[in-house]
Amino acid sequence: MAAGRVRLPTPRSGTVTIVSAPSRDAIISAFAARHGEPPAAIFRAPGRVNLIGEHTDYSHLPVLPIAIERGLTVAAAPAPGGVVEAASSAFAGEPVIDRANPAATPAIPWSRYLTGALRELANVAPGRGARLLIDGDLPAGGGLSSSSALTVGVIAALAAAWDVPLPPGEIVRRAVVSERHAGVESGGMDQEVIVFAEDGAALRIDFDPPGHRAVPLPAGLAFVAASSGEDAPKAGAARDAYNERVVGARIATAMLADEIGLEVEHPLVLRQVAGVDVIDVLVDGLPERISAAEAAHGIDLDVEQLVRLTAGRFDHQLKVPVRRVARHILGEAERVGRAEAALLAGDLPAFGRLLNESHNSLREDFRCSTAALDRLCAAMRKSGASGARLTGAGFGGYALAAAPPASVAAIIEAAVAATGGPAFEVHASAGLERL
Ligand code: GLA
Repeated sequence: MAAGRVRLPTPRSGTVTIVSAPSRDAIISAFAARHGEPPAAIFRAPGRVNLIGEHTDYSHLPVLPIAIERGLTVAAAPAPGGVVEAASSAFAGEPVIDRANPAATPAIPWSRYLTGALRELANVAPGRGARLLIDGDLPAGGGLSSSSALTVGVIAALAAAWDVPLPPGEIVRRAVVSERHAGVESGGMDQEVIVFAEDGAALRIDFDPPGHRAVPLPAGLAFVAASSGEDAPKAGAARDAYNERVVGARIATAMLADEIGLEVEHPLVLRQVAGVDVIDVLVDGLPERISAAEAAHGIDLDVEQLVRLTAGRFDHQLKVPVRRVARHILGEAERVGRAEAALLAGDLPAFGRLLNESHNSLREDFRCSTAALDRLCAAMRKSGASGARLTGAGFGGYALAAAPPASVAAIIEAAVAATGGPAFEVHASAGLERL
C-alpha cells in the first residue's frame, strides 16, 4: 500500500456494526501524498441493499432498495494529456487508461468499470486526463453494489474535476450504460438508489413511467446484511446466468404479447403485460425453456430484438428459462407494492413474510439462490429475523434480514456461524454526496 493511502478496516468478524467513513481531510492528504496535489472533487457513493423487487428492474417493474452507510469515496484531479490513472485501497491493481483508446487497458478486473465509465464520458472534456484515488469500506464482489458505487462515483468525480458537473439524473443514465459495457445487461436499480437515496428511507423506484419516492422506514425495524461466503462476480458464469434470464424475460414478454394480441413495443419488458387479466394463467402456458431463435420464429419477430446486449453476443440457439423467470418477476413486482404498504403501516411481520416469499420465489422459480444463501437465510430467520432473503443478483453474494433491533446481535452471530461472515447491521442512508 502506498504511503498515506487511506485504508479502512474490512469487516471480517460478526460483531462489526458501523465503520466510519474517512474524513474529507484524510482523503485530501492521502490524495496529495500520492499525487503531489489535492483533488479537485471528492464524492462518496454508498453501496446498496435491495429490500425487495429482485430481478424486476430490467423488466421495468418496481424495486425497493436502501443505500447503506458503507460506500466508496472517489477523489479526482484533472491531469495533462488524455490518460486517466487510478489507484485504490478497495480494489487491487492500478489501471492506466488512455481516453482515446480505453479498450486497450490491460486486464485489471475493476478497470472494465472505469473504461465503461470513460466511454460514457467521451463527450465530457474530451482529451483531458485525470488522477483518481478510490477508497472505501464496501466489500467488493459480493452483491452490495460496489461496481455501481464505483461507476457512479467515478462519473460524478471526473465530470466535476473537469469542470463539467453532471446533474444527478445524467449521472444515473450514464452509469447504467457504463456498467452494461462490462457485460451484465443489468437494470437501473443500483445506480438510481446510489444517487437518489434518502437517510432513514427506502427508495421505491419505478421505470415506466420513470420516477422514485422515499418510503420512510418505521421505528423498530433493523436490517442485517450477511455474506454467503461466495463471491457473486459480474463475470463468467454469473454474468451468463444473469443475461440468460434477461433474454428469458424478453422472450416471455414477446410470447405473452403475441398470445393476447398486444402489439409489442421496444424494449421488450414484462411491464407491458404485467397488468393484463389472467396473466398468471397465461404465464403457466409458456414453455419451460426455449431458445430465442425458436421463439422468434414462432411469433415472427426479429431474433435480434430478443438477444441484443450492450456488450458481447448472446447465443440464439441457447435454450433459456422462460416460464419460471416470468412467474418470479411478475409475482415479485406485486410483492414490492405489498412490502411498501407493510412498511408504511409499520407491519413488520407482514414485511418479513414478503421477504421470505421473495427468497422462495428466487430459489424455486428464478433459481439464483445457492445452498449457502438458503442456509444463511434459514439461520437468520431461526435467530429472530422477521424475514430474510438473498439480495442483489444472487448466485452467491449477500443476504438481508429484517428484524426487531433487539434480535440484531443474535442474527449476526447466527449468520457468521452459518457461513463465516462477514455480517453487520446496515442503516438506510443518504445517496451520492459531494464532500
Ligand atoms: C444486479 C443488477 C441490478 C438488478 C439486480 C437484481 O444487482 O445490477 O440491476 O437487476 O442484480 O435485482
